[in-house]
Amino acid sequence: MNASVGVHLKLNPNLTPYEQFIVERRQKGLHRELPSALSSYAVSFSHSDYLGLSLHPALIEAAKKALRIWGTSGHASRLLLKSIPVYSELEHQISSTLSTDKTITFGSGYQANISTLSALLNSKILKCSPLVFCDKLVHASIYQGLKTASILPHRFHHQNLTHLESLLASFQNDTRPKFIIAETLYSMEGTKTDLPQLNQLAEHHNAILYLDEAHALGVCGKGGYGLSHRTIDPNRTIVMGTFSKGLGASGGFISGPALLIDYLINASPGFIYTTAAPPSTIAAAKAAWDLSLTFDAQRQTMSSLATQLWEGFKELGFATSPSPTHIIPLILKTAEQTMAAQSEFKMHGIEVSAIRYPTVPMGQARLRFSIHAGLTQDDVSQALMIAKNHIFPFIQRES
Ligand SMILES: Cc1ncc(COP(=O)(O)O)c(C=O)c1O
Repeated sequence: MNASVGVHLKLNPNLTPYEQFIVERRQKGLHRELPSALSSYAVSFSHSDYLGLSLHPALIEAAKKALRIWGTSGHASRLLLKSIPVYSELEHQISSTLSTDKTITFGSGYQANISTLSALLNSKILKCSPLVFCDKLVHASIYQGLKTASILPHRFHHQNLTHLESLLASFQNDTRPKFIIAETLYSMEGTKTDLPQLNQLAEHHNAILYLDEAHALGVCGKGGYGLSHRTIDPNRTIVMGTFSKGLGASGGFISGPALLIDYLINASPGFIYTTAAPPSTIAAAKAAWDLSLTFDAQRQTMSSLATQLWEGFKELGFATSPSPTHIIPLILKTAEQTMAAQSEFKMHGIEVSAIRYPTVPMGQARLRFSIHAGLTQDDVSQALMIAKNHIFPFIQRES
């Protein structure tokens, strides 16, 4: 492997821009490919169905029942659907659990973030360009939402609320609406946000807090209902969540103050101009939402497996997250080392995700270990054994 690959890029001027893009991605070791449908591994650390709910009989039964009654399609935009109650049942249930006024569901979490942020930050409606403060490492769908609203955010260093505070202080006398955007548990870092402090800052600076709970739902907080649950001021907070990860279904939601949800129903293009998610998916999400409460034992198991893996990586001298959660990065820095390490794990029957630029900053490439309830202590021990015998010596050689 050549660590200097990509340093000297020679691009053929006759290539189309698309070809040029692909060639450049290949030369930098950043080219993405869909995995072969035939590849299978004994152990997987690479999916986000954290509780294994996607195969739970209660979700499957709920989906089958909905399929039989309403068929496979969402039929029309939510605004036009009259006689399919599953959507509002789920939305009421979420609002009641999270103590929020109202909730609306979207076809995906990605769609929820883009459509909500682009509507919420609309400078024509607000009659000025709002001030947006966001953690540098928020998800691509949040950045897309900001881009659609033509917002240039004030970005604070990852999880550095002192930095956020100083940015907010520099706009103390600015009367434009302020928004703070963060994930409660970061998808690529596995870090948890200090929500009480963030809430305090939002309150002090009269800012609306927008929290993406995608990776916390199902796994974190009481009953698996997320980290913001019972921690934040529901009057100034908008909670975004997905059903696609810990809740084993698909789709997303936005929950918050009644006025803002009413505004989104009237102004969010990804809510208005799209067909509703299929009722079967929403029925499965509703079953998962109710079941989550009963999964404390699985969450406990995941927590001890996460600690076992994280401590093992630390003992071996690898760079990882500051503390263990169900997302554990093994930071190998270069794309080349990361891809080679992923191949080593695969050769030993372990599937793990390789994450490279632009998903993470350049020089921060990593393997991302997702801890889920289907794993055992032996699986974690095996991963550590491979890291020790096959990855660590290799990393030593490379650096
Ligand atoms: C932090 C975060 N937000 C939003 C999304 C989008 O959610 P979905 O997969 O339901 O579209 C993801 C998915 O990867 C995510 O990691």
